[in-house]
Amino acid sequence: MFQKSVRYQVLKGIYSFIDYQSIAGDNLKSVKLYDKIAPYYNISQKIYFLLKFGSERKFRMQFLNELTIKDTDRVLETSTGVADNFKYLNNKAEYTGVDISLKMLEQARKNAKRWRITSTFVHCEAENLPFKDHYFDVVFHCGGLNYYNDKQKAILEMIRVAKPGTKIVIVDETQKLVKDNYQKNPVLKGHFADAAKACIPLQLIPEGMLNIKSEIICNDTIYKISFTTPY
Ligand SMILES: C[S@@+](CC[C@H](N)C(=O)[O-])C[C@H]1O[C@@H](n2cnc3c(N)ncnc32)[C@H](O)[C@@H]1O
Repeated sequence: MFQKSVRYQVLKGIYSFIDYQSIAGDNLKSVKLYDKIAPYYNISQKIYFLLKFGSERKFRMQFLNELTIKDTDRVLETSTGVADNFKYLNNKAEYTGVDISLKMLEQARKNAKRWRITSTFVHCEAENLPFKDHYFDVVFHCGGLNYYNDKQKAILEMIRVAKPGTKIVIVDETQKLVKDNYQKNPVLKGHFADAAKACIPLQLIPEGMLNIKSEIICNDTIYKISFTTPY
């Protein structure tokens, strides 16, 4: 699964490829925010989605239904957070979740155990994935990308680790959500101060990708893009 040259340590069952001293910029802001809110993330999301969309499932299925996952597939989610998406997907497949916040991954591991989902959690920056080329059958991302240090690199990494012909799905918040909601929230506003970062990254999809599609969903709060890697 991992590239031969990369070194890691195992922390509470999570493969960790970074140490905190090496994280900088927006990625460091993310670690500080998500490490702090990790214990409350799942419940706060549940309440928010219930009030805004009727349920968490109704919210998440608006983009998760883009994914076709077979029982034998290896599935990667970058920025997996506490792995909330996994419970809505084919539970026979094999899941890998990457995140920069170890605290979020600790919650993710507990959740996946509780939901009996076969999963591996990897602590690293999405801009530097430790996986071999063309390893995954399904690759997706939901939330986080807008405020990465390097969105382009992260997208290229998703493509590198996907098998030829894989559909890649990327979902994140729109500027409307940042302005109307995050910037009014005392916990989130420091992290989301620059709303312009929440722009649809279509120009970052490299030439040669197929079936590129873009859509605004979830009452204008979320963008969804998808494309297929060439054979
Ligand atoms: C809004 S949460 C999304 C969590 C999950 N995907 C979901 O749908 O609920 C964003 C996640 O992105 C992670 N993150 C932010 N920057 C990252 C980076 N450069 N590499 C990997 N993960 C990152 C954060 O730690 C956080 O868990």
